[in-house]
Amino acid sequence: MDLQLKDKTILVTAASRGLGFGAAKALAQEEANVIICGRTETSLKEAVSKLGERAEYVVADVSKQEDVKSLVGYVKENSSTLDGLFVNAGGPPPGTFSKVSDEDWRKGFDLTLMSAIWLTRESMPLLKKSDSPAILYSTSISVKQPIDNLLLSNAIRPAVIGMMRTLAGEIGSEGVRVNAILPGYIYTDRVEQLMASNKEAMSSLEARIPLGRMGTPAEFGAVCTFLLSPLASYVHGALLLIDGGLYQGTM
Ligand SMILES: NC(=O)c1ccc[n+]([C@@H]2O[C@H](COP(=O)([O-])OP(=O)(O)OC[C@H]3O[C@@H](n4cnc5c(N)ncnc54)[C@H](OP(=O)(O)O)[C@@H]3O)[C@@H](O)[C@H]2O)c1
Repeated sequence: MDLQLKDKTILVTAASRGLGFGAAKALAQEEANVIICGRTETSLKEAVSKLGERAEYVVADVSKQEDVKSLVGYVKENSSTLDGLFVNAGGPPPGTFSKVSDEDWRKGFDLTLMSAIWLTRESMPLLKKSDSPAILYSTSISVKQPIDNLLLSNAIRPAVIGMMRTLAGEIGSEGVRVNAILPGYIYTDRVEQLMASNKEAMSSLEARIPLGRMGTPAEFGAVCTFLLSPLASYVHGALLLIDGGLYQGTM
C-alpha cells in the first residue's frame, strides 16, 4: 500500500529514541522528510544516522516555549510546508498524590500539556499550507485508565485529549486532521530500564496483555505513519489504543 508520504515533511518531537524514534523510522521508510528533536545532540546525531539522508535534527526541549518556537522556526526556514506533526515528549516523573510537589505539577504541566499547545500553535500556519495536513498526539493508555504511581500522566494527559477533540471541531473545516494515539506498553529502552530490575513485574504485566507481550516501536510507528498519511483522510478526532488489548473497558 502506498501511504503517499513520499516527499512530505513531518516534524516528530522527542524522537532520538523510543516511541518518537519508532514513528520517525516508519515515516522515513515511506520516504518522508523527517525532522526530529530531543534535548541531547549526541543522541540526535546517532538517530539521524540511522534514519537516513532524509532526516534532520534540531536540539529542542519541548517543555520550553522558546525552544518550541525555534524548532518550528527552523522548519519554516528550511521547508516550504509542513505536512505532519507528531507530538511527543518525555514522560512526567512517577509519583503518588502525597509525593508530587507543586513544582512537579508545574513541570509536568509544561512537559505534557503546554508542549502540545505550543507545538500546535506554532505549527498551524505551516500545516495549513499543506494539501494533507495532520497532527497526531502521542499520549498513553492512562487517559482511559489511570496507572498506579503515575499521577501526573493520569491527570494531565486527558487535557491533551480534550484539546485534540475540541480542535477537531474547530479546525476540521480548514482541512487539518487531528488524532491521538494511546500506547499501552511498548518495549522501548526506557521500559527496558524500568523493568530490568524486576523480571517478575514484567512477566505479570505481560500476562495481563491479551496478546501476551509488549508492543515494539516498529509496530507503534506503523500505526502512527498510517494516521499521519493522506490515506487516513477521513480519520479525524479519533483516539486509537495500541496496547495489545490491555484496555478492557467497553468504550
Ligand atoms: N514506552 C511506552 O510503553 C509508553 C507507553 C505510554 C506512554 N509513553 C509515553 O511516551 C513518551 C515516550 O516514551 P518512550 O518510552 O519513547 O521514552 P524514551 O525511550 O525515554 O524516549 C524519550 C525520547 O524523548 C526525548 N525527550 C525527553 N524529554 C524531552 C523534552 N522535554 N523535549 C524533547 N525531547 C525530549 C528523549 O531524548 P532526550 O532525553 O535526549 O531529550 C528521547 O528521545 C513518554 O511521555 C512516555 O511516558 C510510553
